[in-house]
Amino acid sequence: MTALTIPGLDQAPTTHQRLLAWVREVAELTTPDQVVWCDGSDDEWERMTAKLVEAGTFVRLEQKPNSFWCASDPGDVARVEERTFICSQDPADAGPTNNWMHPDEMKATMTELYRGSMRGRTMYVIPFCMGPLDAEKPMLGVEITDSEYVVVSMRVMTRMGARALERFGDDADFVPCLHSVGAPLEPGQQDVPWPCNETKYISHFPEERMIWSFGSGYGGNALLGKKCYSLRIASVMGRDEGWLAEHMLILKLISPENKVYYVAAAFPSACGKTNLAMLEPTIPGWKVETLGDDIAWMRFGEDGRLYAVNPENGFFGVAPGTDWKTNPNAMRTIERGNSVFTNVALTDDGDIWWEGMGEPPAHLTSWKKRDWTPDSEELSSHPNSRYCVPIEQCPIVAPEWQDPKGVPISAILFGGRRATTIPLVTESRDWQHGVFMGATLSSETTAAAVGQVGVVRRDPMAMLPFIGYHAGDYFQHWIDTGKGADATKLPRIFYVNWFRRGEDKRFLWPGFGENSRVLKWVVERLEGRAPAVETPIGYVPTAEAIDLEGLDAPVADIEAALAVDPEEWKAEIPLIEEWFAKIGDKLPTSLRDELEALKQRLG
Ligand code: GTP
Ligand code: SPV
Ligand code: MN
Repeated sequence: MTALTIPGLDQAPTTHQRLLAWVREVAELTTPDQVVWCDGSDDEWERMTAKLVEAGTFVRLEQKPNSFWCASDPGDVARVEERTFICSQDPADAGPTNNWMHPDEMKATMTELYRGSMRGRTMYVIPFCMGPLDAEKPMLGVEITDSEYVVVSMRVMTRMGARALERFGDDADFVPCLHSVGAPLEPGQQDVPWPCNETKYISHFPEERMIWSFGSGYGGNALLGKKCYSLRIASVMGRDEGWLAEHMLILKLISPENKVYYVAAAFPSACGKTNLAMLEPTIPGWKVETLGDDIAWMRFGEDGRLYAVNPENGFFGVAPGTDWKTNPNAMRTIERGNSVFTNVALTDDGDIWWEGMGEPPAHLTSWKKRDWTPDSEELSSHPNSRYCVPIEQCPIVAPEWQDPKGVPISAILFGGRRATTIPLVTESRDWQHGVFMGATLSSETTAAAVGQVGVVRRDPMAMLPFIGYHAGDYFQHWIDTGKGADATKLPRIFYVNWFRRGEDKRFLWPGFGENSRVLKWVVERLEGRAPAVETPIGYVPTAEAIDLEGLDAPVADIEAALAVDPEEWKAEIPLIEEWFAKIGDKLPTSLRDELEALKQRLG
């Protein structure tokens, strides 16, 4: 048999045999018109964005430098958890929280979907690195995709192209990430602005450290360095190698005395990570700097402290609600340009707008490409519309954000979106109790995933859709992480809830910049200076313990936000029991003990 000749296939800028063989194999299966090895250059960005403008996928913005408006297919707007699979050899290794299919069966199914799926398109090969390029062991990957939107987005979100390929040498390990939108073109067939396929699979092969994605062009389904690699596959690597891959922001808090504290925080999708990461404190003298807004990789340093690295290079942030009042640093970051806006509204003068961004203009083009006025019934922007922008443009990015060593974490916050029950902030009794808080975290579902919005579900460590293995083993890994460590050096664990509501449904806590008041209390707890009440669920501040000076909110609201209502908590117990029953035999006994102890304390 003679090998197929596909233009570009043999112009590989590498001698890495495993990479070359895999690229050839994929090209022969998917039969693109040509193969392009991405170098990550400015020229390439110009070519790709021009091509996307020509195809009608992008509209160049007049009002922001080097920035683009993009509307996806209305059926391809968020992560598809129902179509996301962990294909371990043994279903027990995927556990009760993941969809599972045998790797052989999944490969057989998807191979047929990929056969000829890039016909009429270009196949791009994107070498990339998650985390700093100068890491001792760089975390490499290669995404093959037939989507220019993915190439452009990967340039923002990862360190990719020639600078990443340099670290491959001849035989470095890498995670193969195969992506196709699944929309081959017949000769002469007119393309659509957002090609995708109704059939979607987001599949992970944890034992092989490999990812196959088909049918979606959107965010976490298609930018495979993000949730697929840095959380689902990396969590398995972390389990095997003794580190943690978490859905966490990383921020640096500087006190008026110039003391520095690094905080990591895990909130479910669309529950406030980006906003907290870029917070502008409302209390005098305090400063925040940003290191990451979505993912943290944490491992112990030689000094016994837990160090966090952000594997990403960009922010893929929720647009609606982002405004000069709520998140001025995000606004400053996107003002600097070089951004892609997906599923927001387009103004008549070539700028972007979304719900929550001040007064609406008299006329807009909605994300559905329809005329929109303030009287329209529909939203102008999809609730999961996003901006995609390089981290280095953030005016408050911490200078050490690219340090491969990472930063030592003093406190971990777990948080969810709960209208009732969960107080504004609670400190755990110790590491194990903190792991219990994380393992039982609950939150209302949001538009970040396809499905019903506003339903309370357990979302352990904000990782429910991202744990690449059995959730019970994952909890045990967290317990073991604490057991092996010097307890005095471990981060202290807190549980926060910015979203508790009053009887009239309004938020009790003003949130955003005011969350600095909670961070201050957290730091004062670390310093042993702030008072707290010991309650059945942990240590909770009184309203007096929190710095409320200058806060424009009734003290009664703050008290209600901090309240620990034993009746609400008693109602929570059966939900936790149901959740633990779902985890089954692999639930660590220490977490069962924590639940029993909580029941005892509640009486
Ligand atoms: P993902 O990128 O999906 O992982 O989301 P995220 O956790 O980074 O959430 P993000 O910070 O983008 O916030 C999501 C939504 O919650 C936005 O509409 C915000 O405006 C809103 N939000 C964030 N922080 C607060 C807060 O403190 N209080 C209130 N009421 N809303 C908030
Ligand atoms: C999330 O859903 O948690 C996100 C967006 O950060 S996505 O990249 O689609 O996963
Ligand atoms: Mn996220």
